[in-house]
Amino acid sequence: MLRSILIRLVLPVVLASCVVAFVALPYMDNLLADWFRGDIEMRAQLVMSSMRQPVSELVAKNDLGQLSKYLSAITADKRLLAIAICRPDGRPIVETQTTPVAVSCNAEAESTGPAEQVVHLPSGSVEISRFDFDSAKPPYRVLLVHDLSFVDRRQRTARDFIIAFVGIAAILLALFVVLSAWLQLRRWVKALIGDIRGRRFLDDAKSPSASMPILSQVREVLAEIEEEQRLEIDFRENWTPQALHQVVETQLKAAQVLVVSNREPYIHHRGENGEIVVQVPASGMVTAMEPIVRACAGVWIAHGSGAADRDVVDRYDHVRVPPDDPEYTLRRVWLTADQEAGYYYGFANEGIWPLCHLAYVRPEFRASDWRSYEEVNAKFAEACAAEATTDSPVILIQDFHFALLPKLVRAKVPKATIALFWHIPWPNAETFGVCPWKREMLLHMLSADILGFHTRYHCQNFLDTLDRFVECQIDREHMTVTHQGRVCRIAPYPISIEWPPRWLKGVAGVPACRAAVRARHGIGAHVFLGLGVERWDFTKGIVERFHALEILLERNPRLRGKIGLLQIAAPSRSQLPAYQALQKHTLEEAKRINGRFAEMDWRPIVLVGEHQEPRLVFELYRAADFCLVNSLHDGMNLVAKEFVAARDDEDGVLILSTFAGASRELTEALLVNPFDVSETADAIETAMRMSRDERRGRMSLMRRTVKENNVYRWAGRMLMDMGRIRQRQSLSRAVGRGRGEGG
Ligand code: G6P
Repeated sequence: MLRSILIRLVLPVVLASCVVAFVALPYMDNLLADWFRGDIEMRAQLVMSSMRQPVSELVAKNDLGQLSKYLSAITADKRLLAIAICRPDGRPIVETQTTPVAVSCNAEAESTGPAEQVVHLPSGSVEISRFDFDSAKPPYRVLLVHDLSFVDRRQRTARDFIIAFVGIAAILLALFVVLSAWLQLRRWVKALIGDIRGRRFLDDAKSPSASMPILSQVREVLAEIEEEQRLEIDFRENWTPQALHQVVETQLKAAQVLVVSNREPYIHHRGENGEIVVQVPASGMVTAMEPIVRACAGVWIAHGSGAADRDVVDRYDHVRVPPDDPEYTLRRVWLTADQEAGYYYGFANEGIWPLCHLAYVRPEFRASDWRSYEEVNAKFAEACAAEATTDSPVILIQDFHFALLPKLVRAKVPKATIALFWHIPWPNAETFGVCPWKREMLLHMLSADILGFHTRYHCQNFLDTLDRFVECQIDREHMTVTHQGRVCRIAPYPISIEWPPRWLKGVAGVPACRAAVRARHGIGAHVFLGLGVERWDFTKGIVERFHALEILLERNPRLRGKIGLLQIAAPSRSQLPAYQALQKHTLEEAKRINGRFAEMDWRPIVLVGEHQEPRLVFELYRAADFCLVNSLHDGMNLVAKEFVAARDDEDGVLILSTFAGASRELTEALLVNPFDVSETADAIETAMRMSRDERRGRMSLMRRTVKENNVYRWAGRMLMDMGRIRQRQSLSRAVGRGRGEGG
């Protein structure tokens, strides 16, 4: 920067000074010459008037000896070089010995020029003043020769002085300009970097750069770009894989996209006859992320948990997926049994999972689990670094399994743009405070550029937690946190599903699905069928759902034989005591309630405790009359959105927990407090009585919401924010580089 200041500011100052000197010097020379000549002329007049009398007398007497002496005495004066007295015809009467050869009575006799003239002699310039006394007896002429060489000397001295003066003034001026420009630029750069880092471009009159004229123009341009991008997102209704791909190409300049999660999108198992079977796991996170990775053709790094996983990878632990039509690379990371037990079952699922879900299951924290969690996070950081083919990939970290990963990855790939999306709720500060390693988790998370949650409420909880346990600067207006000079954006990104869901392709129409599902599970055609489908988890409210049905049947005995609940519970984390207890309790409760109300070929609850592939789940959605999503606590819950997406017949009723993030968007669902089983029973009754028109009205509104807010929009918003962060970072690096140039 200093070099450019020198070139852009000092050079013009120096050039301007040269021009001033060049123009001023000849003018000054003339001025001085005129002054001095004026003086000499006046002097000549004075000399002449004082010598006129004596000279006239001596000429009249023709006393040449006396005249010569008299003139010599006068020319003793330093300035008066010589005097010549001449006859009008040019003959000399007397000339002092100092009279220059070039000055002669003869030459002057013919002169008709002015009475004063300057003659340049080799010894220096002289001024000849001519006085004619034609009326004297005899007439004569006097030539006074004044030395002008002192004028040259004085002109030279004055010129030297002016050059020196202009030179010194130019240097001082240049130094002053450089210094003040440097200070001003430093101030601007500091303010600009602060704004870039703090993301203060929109609506921020308090920003330091707002009052700086040039910077306010930069701010305006950046704010316009930012606003345009936001509008583009907000008003884009049709988010597709192509639109997302375009975001990666344009906003992220085709950056490499890495996705990291614990759960892999495809698990290779061994079938009963030893054949390899591919399973898509029951995971909201997988449901959401898979279409994104396909659209971005990224690399997905995940734990290789299947028994046949190692059999299908190459030497880099890579396998191309989806298996039937490969679109991206799955990189598997292997964990030892101890690591899986400590990190996944222990810290993640017995610690953080119950900690973040208010389902009243006590979290367990063990130091050995924490160590495994650290170890596995470090292992995944290595995998990220190994998979990165550029120095600034975009890394999308998924979920509570990897709270430490942002910092560990940042250490290995410093220029990566990192987002950590938390797929589960974030509890309030007091609740999170029970975690013994809360500070470590929070500090590691803050190395991300973006921390995403499903709802604004979870974001606020997270900020409150930071406020309580970490020393950092929180800007609640802009939802940013600055820690050790690094800015992290905390933002809500409500996750969703792909639209239309690819699993719906090839699934039969609603009547066929109804018939197939009822036949498969032994449910009568006239039964008003409710569906519950999820992992067998204590957060999902499965038992509470059974109790709601029980209350309903108690209250309305006439509903026996007319209503039923098909519950698909995919076994999950079954090694853990809390999950084993839940499975046992669920089976017991289903048995008890069925025992209470079952009649002939009808039982109120059909419980299927096994995993179902997505295509079958979509068949179930289409077969049901209502879907029960009464989670006790849930980040978003994508079953609710999938049910809506599956109902292109615009029928079916959704009963949704107010404690699931989805309830903020799907407000046309029948919203219930899952802890109030009686309220849930009322909702089921309402669903049974709801008219076709009302069902259609509610469903079509919900379908529009899910269609517009699909998962491509979710990812698009996050990736565009990441793109903006990258733009700011490169701008701030460029400004910083510019500033560093001189220093
Ligand atoms: C939740 C989590 C996901 C997880 C899923 C299934 O949806 O947010 O990260 O994959 O549960 O749990 P599992 O432990 O089987 O992966």
